[in-house]
Amino acid sequence: MTEHLPMIVWQDTYNTGIDILDRQHRELVNTINALYSSLNMENKGSALKPAADMVMKYTKTHFATEIAMMEKSGYPQMKQHHAQHEQLILDAGRSLYECLHEDGDPTDFLNFLKRWFVVHITREDQAYSEHLTKYFKKHPDELLSCLAA
Ligand SMILES: [Fe+2]
Ligand SMILES: [Fe+2]
Repeated sequence: MTEHLPMIVWQDTYNTGIDILDRQHRELVNTINALYSSLNMENKGSALKPAADMVMKYTKTHFATEIAMMEKSGYPQMKQHHAQHEQLILDAGRSLYECLHEDGDPTDFLNFLKRWFVVHITREDQAYSEHLTKYFKKHPDELLSCLAA
């Protein structure tokens, strides 16, 4: 099989400096890249849906962790951040539906995910970095409960 470049190549600018969230962001990139690879598979018709479901599922897990950490630490922009996550889930769900049921192009869904990921992670996710880092340095014992959210 021909090797393809990944859809998203990890950049240092994606790092928030918060270990748990950086690891989740990397995993999220992996799921998006796996979805991209599924389009190059011979059986792409049946490979697309499970790979897309994995992206959506992991995105929701990651969002839950992020919001739990914001809530715990009293992050002032939590409400707006949460609203952005909700919007993404709606838009991504719509785009995925189109490509699965309305003959849409899966590349549109992937491009949407990539664009959203890069913009959100380099802007909104960077914005909480200082606040969360400070708080969890003082309260490392509270991290575990955020993961279980
Ligand atoms: Fe976020
Ligand atoms: Fe994030």
